[in-house]
Amino acid sequence: MLLELAASRRVLFFGGKGGVGKTTVAAAVALAAADAGRRVLLVSTDPAHNLGHLWERPVGPEPVRVAPGLDALEIDPERSVDRHLSEVEDALRRMMPREMGGEIEKHMALSRDAPGMHEAALLERIAETVETGLGGYDLLVFDTAPSGHTARLMALPELISAWTEGMLHRQERSARFGEALRNFGRDEGMGDRIIGRDPDAPVPPDDRVARIRGILHRRRHRFAHLRETMTDAERTAFVIVLAAERLPVLETIEFEAQLRRSGVHVGGLVVNKRAPADAGDFLAHRRAQEARYLDMLAEALPALPVQEIPLQPDEVVGGEALRGFARVLGVS
Ligand SMILES: Nc1ncnc2c1ncn2[C@@H]1O[C@H](COP(=O)(O)OP(=O)(O)OP(=O)(O)O)[C@@H](O)[C@H]1O
Ligand SMILES: [Mg+2]
Repeated sequence: MLLELAASRRVLFFGGKGGVGKTTVAAAVALAAADAGRRVLLVSTDPAHNLGHLWERPVGPEPVRVAPGLDALEIDPERSVDRHLSEVEDALRRMMPREMGGEIEKHMALSRDAPGMHEAALLERIAETVETGLGGYDLLVFDTAPSGHTARLMALPELISAWTEGMLHRQERSARFGEALRNFGRDEGMGDRIIGRDPDAPVPPDDRVARIRGILHRRRHRFAHLRETMTDAERTAFVIVLAAERLPVLETIEFEAQLRRSGVHVGGLVVNKRAPADAGDFLAHRRAQEARYLDMLAEALPALPVQEIPLQPDEVVGGEALRGFARVLGVS
């Protein structure tokens, strides 16, 4: 199932609870696709990054080559917030009258810790990565942070699109209102006094309006594109990685429902670290217990393909170990 998804889709997301093997599986799938000749970009959106540890080399916010045909990058949420805020601040300073400077500063200082700010900044970077990445790569593989966070993130493009839409609408109305006022007080410049033309403002009000519209339109386009990509089952699949235990199975069922509500197609489930049948009574007993939870999973989500990956004797670190792990994906 995994290799089939890696060969047929343009974007894959890997999500699931902490420590289940999202990063390892995402990296191995990316490597297998690159070995098969696709140009692949592996992206970590997890604030606690470990692509660098896994590949035993520094991986940062710009793509670095980690294997032939495979680049990797880690989206840095702090840096994304900084960049996002400085873009907003820059735009506000250019558009608002100069005496608003103090207000803008206060607003920006508060925004840094506003609820949702990190997610919005992260999503902006994901949207940007999808937009530019699809141009240069055949496949984008996203390794995401543990479940709850990702489910909210997947619902966010819709919310942000709606918000941007609302802003555009309001902005259009106030532009018409401003126009009416200007006409109303044309001779005396009354309209300009009422809507606050600032003689020192670096950008005249009409240009400001055009720029605000430009920024909102670009944003709307970017999030609409992300949403379109994320909800297109032919191009994009979300893979949930889990352990065959009670709580992870229950959470997976809930996670799949949340993703479905956001319009995101789950392409399959990976049951990782499956206990072997032939390595002593202890593990055989665990395996039997796991089977019961897998039955529960199959009953709740009968249509979803499931791939099991056996527990490996060693943890997976470094290119060679990943290649070995990728081979297991092909046979398991
Ligand atoms: N099938 C497996 N057999 C043995 N060890 C595995 C297997 N899959 C992953 N591991 C190991 O489990 C640990 C956790 O894996 P990984 O970092 O990929 O999980 P994660 O879901 O990305 O974790 P986090 O939620 O912290 O990002 C790593 O040490 C990895 O090498
Ligand atoms: Mg991880």
